[in-house]
Amino acid sequence: MKLAIGNDHAGVEMKNQIVAFLQERGVEVINIGNDDPTDRGDDYPIYGYGVARLVADGEADLGICICGTGVGISLAANKVPGIRACVCSDPYTAQLSRRHNNTNVLAFGARVIGVELAKMIVSEWLDATFEGERHQRRIDMISEIERTGRLNEG
Ligand code: RB5
Repeated sequence: MKLAIGNDHAGVEMKNQIVAFLQERGVEVINIGNDDPTDRGDDYPIYGYGVARLVADGEADLGICICGTGVGISLAANKVPGIRACVCSDPYTAQLSRRHNNTNVLAFGARVIGVELAKMIVSEWLDATFEGERHQRRIDMISEIERTGRLNEG
């Protein structure tokens, strides 16, 4: 499995630890994030977009985005068609986001959670499987909003 990871300056240390954790699990990691924590000029949309692009283009199976809160970078990732990114600060949400929402990008905030919690979140997320059925219908509705800007509820 190939996973793209991206981060701004706020997430450098967290990113390094998560990359090592993923590699221990045998995951191939594509790191497109910033590696310089002193670079305050880096803008999180660059990395959210970069990760999302790789996933949407099929260059990576999944993506992980890290910024200070996980919010900005996930907002940017979610603007790429086909991307379902969510910010998770707990393993339960991470697991359900895969099982029910088929998220393909996980985001979290390096200034919000510690690295051990982040590892649990990543594990739950990677180990969970999309359940399809009624959940697919809802994903299709999200895709319709993405495609048309509207939802035809009829
Ligand atoms: C950068 O200071 C910070 O704004 C960014 O990492 C992120 O938290 C934005 O959502």
